[in-house]
Amino acid sequence: MSAEHGGTGAEPLPLDKAPSRIAGMFDAIAGKYDLLNMVLSAGLDRQWRKQAITSLALTGRERVLDVCAGTADVSIGAALASPGSPRVVGVDFAGAMLAKGQEKIRAAGLPGRVQLVRGDAMTLPVTDASVDCVTIAFGIRNVQGTAVALRELHRVLKPGGRVAILEFGLPQAPGLRQLYQWYFLGVLPKIGRMVSKHGGAYSYLPQSVGAFPWGDDFARLLTEAGFATAQSRPLTLGVVYLYTARKG
Ligand SMILES: C[S@@+](CC[C@H](N)C(=O)[O-])C[C@H]1O[C@@H](n2cnc3c(N)ncnc32)[C@H](O)[C@@H]1O
Repeated sequence: MSAEHGGTGAEPLPLDKAPSRIAGMFDAIAGKYDLLNMVLSAGLDRQWRKQAITSLALTGRERVLDVCAGTADVSIGAALASPGSPRVVGVDFAGAMLAKGQEKIRAAGLPGRVQLVRGDAMTLPVTDASVDCVTIAFGIRNVQGTAVALRELHRVLKPGGRVAILEFGLPQAPGLRQLYQWYFLGVLPKIGRMVSKHGGAYSYLPQSVGAFPWGDDFARLLTEAGFATAQSRPLTLGVVYLYTARKG
């Protein structure tokens, strides 16, 4: 179900997702991004990423591509997730987010196993059929061309390759829905603005979620991009969805 169908109360006008605007916004909040993730999700963001990485069932032999890698939490998590040593490349177009990620990679002792590269999800700097697994955590909603980026994921995966995508949904259970809207539309933007000192980033968050498909609607986009077995699974009562799929 999407906002157009279910409604969030958020303004459903088209949002400006021009790459320069989105990259500039994430560059501006990079210093507070991890802190705000933890505070605003009450620490649940770690569990959501962990569930996405677990869904890939990494053996340690894979080449993993983490698209919209940001401050590299999924890239690092994927590198640590298996007894072997999967090689991970994270791609993002916001240099300040990647710089934070690079610090964390050094602190985790993983410089040899995780590489961060500046690039756009719509034109990935990766050759065809060259990676085993692709992840995107909370990134696809921000990409200007959703279908273009999903086709890029399909292009770079080897046959049989797996994808795990995390993105926000909107809980629909009566009572919870109203409570969540109060928090997501009212409280979260205020805390985000106060801590990040950025005027728009944390108002953009609920607006962009409200205008983006979730659940079966998003899984259908994966199928349309060529994926064989797209599935959607609500996490935390539908606050977030985990989408998994395979390249046939
Ligand atoms: C909400 S953050 C998520 C970061 C990280 N994956 C996480 O789990 O915390 C979204 C990231 O997507 C990146 N992004 C958005 N659109 C992009 C695009 N078209 N190409 C590359 N990166 C993009 C932003 O720069 C930002 O770092």
